[in-house]
Amino acid sequence: MIPNIAAFKTLIKERVGLHFFNGMEGLLNAALHQRMTERGKESCEQYYEVLCVSTIEFDKLLSLLTINETYFFREPEVLDIVCEKLVPRILNQREGPVRILSAGCSSGEEAYSLAIKLHQKYHEAFADRVDIHGCDIDTKILEKARAANYSSYSFRGVDPLLQQNYFTRNGNQFQLHDLIRNKVKFHRSNIVKEQLQPQFDIILLRNVSIYFDVETRRLLHFNLLNMLQPEGALFFGNAETLANNFGILKLKQEHGHFYFCQPKTARAPTPTASVPPRIVTPVAPAQAPFVAAPMPTSQQCDIWIKKALTCVADKRFAEAETLINQVLNSDAQHQEALVIKAAIALEKCEFEQTAQSAQQVLELDEWSAEAKMLLGLAMMWQHHTQQAIAWFKQVVYQQPGYWPAHYYLAEMYRQSELPRPAARTYRITLQLLNAEMNNTASACALRLPLSFPTNSFRFLCEHQLAQFTSQDGQ
Ligand SMILES: C[S@@+](CC[C@H](N)C(=O)[O-])C[C@H]1O[C@@H](n2cnc3c(N)ncnc32)[C@H](O)[C@@H]1O
Repeated sequence: MIPNIAAFKTLIKERVGLHFFNGMEGLLNAALHQRMTERGKESCEQYYEVLCVSTIEFDKLLSLLTINETYFFREPEVLDIVCEKLVPRILNQREGPVRILSAGCSSGEEAYSLAIKLHQKYHEAFADRVDIHGCDIDTKILEKARAANYSSYSFRGVDPLLQQNYFTRNGNQFQLHDLIRNKVKFHRSNIVKEQLQPQFDIILLRNVSIYFDVETRRLLHFNLLNMLQPEGALFFGNAETLANNFGILKLKQEHGHFYFCQPKTARAPTPTASVPPRIVTPVAPAQAPFVAAPMPTSQQCDIWIKKALTCVADKRFAEAETLINQVLNSDAQHQEALVIKAAIALEKCEFEQTAQSAQQVLELDEWSAEAKMLLGLAMMWQHHTQQAIAWFKQVVYQQPGYWPAHYYLAEMYRQSELPRPAARTYRITLQLLNAEMNNTASACALRLPLSFPTNSFRFLCEHQLAQFTSQDGQ
């Protein structure tokens, strides 16, 4: 058993809501062992630290933890109500496509089932009448959803004629026809913390909330409140609905089936205010090229930068790089683009590239704390501890309130076996983190597309300080 498994459980729950009830700890344990083995000899503490800072590694672990069980036309009565009652009703009331989201879509069967049913109902006209989206936290399963190539396991109980009409058999696999496949757009999104906008008319969130505890499900409801149109409908799986009745959304019954909708009163403020709503743009197919405008303007560059930041947040680094290169092709000295380029390289563990882009930024602006922070991180990951210390010190000097720089400086001191400066710097980091939590900190943030989850870092500081105390006592 992993010794500090509780810390891993907290980190995962905080980030994506998944709660490892006692019976599921074995799954977490096995996944952690697998990743640590695959990465080589690493202690649990080292691996925890990597998880805190590397979104790529976090996603790899997550793919081993999510339960992706799904199949076509699961709990079909709800799909009937959506396609036969709700969609026609909305289309009668207003113009424009009905927006539907399959949240926690896994490998896409639910979203594609809806698309097939709506195609059967509206034929070619379905293209204009509905917009169908799927989202999931698991990037690996989303690749499968986009590929739309299934084994017979996904077709439990599906009418063979329907399978024949919409899929082409290829050995043991069944490829969904492009007419349906292209109708569904998939997004990497964390349904607990992020919002897909604009709002949806219908959200299906089935067989997902069972992996969350009550506290997370309540947060989820506030989040969903903001993702749902005023007249929209939210469906949970049949067995989940009552366990989700918190009075935040209103429970409605139609044809013997329950769903949630907006209460008539004004919307309640969301308690996740610290997480700004994000607009996640539809995911283009992996190979789709971004077409450069013939005459890029600074306005066009701003749009590319915004899109690139969204891609980075979604970990679609190849797309982000394409956009950043477009900006740099039109303005080789675009400082923000260079910073983002360096950050992407860091995420991809291409440390030389990080250093190169960050140095370019410093040539343009010798006071760029962003560039210095990136250089510090790149040096740290390459085990150039003294150089990392020098860069982090400069950031701390310029931005004394920026706790991530203090934290990594403390780490470098610890690794250099300098316990006193390390302990002092961990304590400063904790003070800054507490001030931030109590809103007494003077606002200090670098413009970096990297996330530093405060609770995890607080845990790490406390852990290291406790280690120092116990060593002193020996
Ligand atoms: C059991 S599948 C459900 C698939 C489909 N909705 C169904 O009912 O057949 C659960 C899915 O929820 C996804 N999931 C878990 N936590 C999530 C989160 N915080 N945000 C988005 N998706 C999440 C998992 O990755 C998994 O693919």
